[in-house]
Amino acid sequence: MYKFLVRPLLFRLSSDYTHEITIKSASLLSKYKWLLHITEALYGYSNNSLEQKIGGLRFPNPIGLAAGFDKNGTAAPFMQSLGFGFVEIGSVTANSCIGNPKPRTFRLPADQSLINRLGLNNEGVLTISRRLKYRDLKIPMGVNIAKTHDPSIIGEKAIEDYRTSFNLVKNIADYITLNISCPNTTEGKTFEEPESLNNLLKSLGIEKDASLPPVFVKFSVDLDDSLLYELLNICEGYAIEGYVATNTSSLRENLKTPESTIRQIGKGGLSGKAICSKSTEIIQKIYSYTKGLKTIIGVGGVSSTEDAIEKLKAGADLLQIYTGLVYEGPPLVKRINRGLTDYMKKHGIDHVYHIRKVKNQ
Ligand SMILES: Cc1cc2nc3c(=O)[nH]c(=O)nc-3n(C[C@H](O)[C@H](O)[C@H](O)COP(=O)(O)O)c2cc1C
Repeated sequence: MYKFLVRPLLFRLSSDYTHEITIKSASLLSKYKWLLHITEALYGYSNNSLEQKIGGLRFPNPIGLAAGFDKNGTAAPFMQSLGFGFVEIGSVTANSCIGNPKPRTFRLPADQSLINRLGLNNEGVLTISRRLKYRDLKIPMGVNIAKTHDPSIIGEKAIEDYRTSFNLVKNIADYITLNISCPNTTEGKTFEEPESLNNLLKSLGIEKDASLPPVFVKFSVDLDDSLLYELLNICEGYAIEGYVATNTSSLRENLKTPESTIRQIGKGGLSGKAICSKSTEIIQKIYSYTKGLKTIIGVGGVSSTEDAIEKLKAGADLLQIYTGLVYEGPPLVKRINRGLTDYMKKHGIDHVYHIRKVKNQ
C-alpha cells in the first residue's frame, strides 16, 4: 500500500516538506499510547533468534533507525512502535542550529537514493537531553553527537564543543555515537583528521572512564584504505565499543540519475542504494582490521532482507536504515526482520549472530 498509494502522493510534495511533515506526524503520534499500541500491533515483529545482547544492552532485533531522522528526540516512541530494535537520536550539537537554507533534501528515485545538506539542524544538546531524560522506551536509544555547525568553532574550541554535548548525554544515552563524518558543514569533516580524532578521544576521557556508556565512532563511506586504517588504529587505542559504518558520500558514483540533475542539486551527502556496496566494503574492512572483536553497526542503502544479509555477512552485528524508509515505507522494518527469520530457518541457522559467523568461520 505504501509504495502504490502513499509514496506517489508524498513524492508529489517537495522532499523538504515531506521530511518535515513526516517528523511532525511521528512526533505527534508518539504522544498517544493507544495509537502506539495499534501501530505496534500492525508493524511489530518479535522472534528470539533476532535478539542480541551487545555492550550490556538488549537489542530485540538488529534493525535500528539511523541518525538524522529523529534529530531532536521527539519521535522515538513512534519509531519503536514501527518495530525498530533500537533508535539513534541526532546528530545533536552543543549549540542549536537551524541548518542550511532550503531546498536541502533531494530524491533520486532512479537510484533509490537521496542527497541531503541539512547541515546539522537541531535544537541543541541542552533542550534535547532534558527531553530524553524522561523517555519511556523498551529499546536501546543511542545519541549521536557532532560538532556545532559553525566554522568559527575550530581547534580546542571544537573539542570543547564536543565535550559539552558528550557530558550532557553520557548519563542519558544507552550508547553514544561520535559523528566525525558529517559532509554538510562549511568547515568539513574536521575530526576525520587523525591527530584531531586522537585529541578528541583523549579529551573525552574514553580510555579511562568505565562508567561511560558504549561509545561508537561513525565513519564516512568515502574513506580510502590508508585513512580508514589510520583512524581505526587510533580508535583501537581507546575504549571504543565499535563503529558505525557508514555515513553518506560526498562523491557521485554509481548513479543512473542524469548528470545535469545531479549538477543542479549541488553539494550534499548521498545516501541509499547508491552507497550500499561501498558501505558494505567498509564494514568488511573494519571487521578484518578488528578481527571481528568490535561491534559494527552497518548502515548505507539497506532496503531489503538481501541487503541486510549482505551487511551481516560482511561483519555487521546491527544495522540501521534511513533512506530505505523513504522508498519502502514503514512496513520495511517488519519485512526485513521476518525475512531474516525465514532465511535462518531455511539455512538451519539458529541465531542472527550466526549469519555472520557462518560466513567468517
Ligand atoms: C536526510 C538525512 C539526514 C541525515 N542526518 C544525519 C545526522 O544528523 N547525523 C548522522 O550521523 N548521519 C546522518 N545521516 C546519515 C544516515 O544516518 C546514514 O548514515 C546514511 O544516510 C546511510 O544510510 P541510508 O542509506 O540507510 O540512508 C542523514 C541521512 C539523511 C538521508
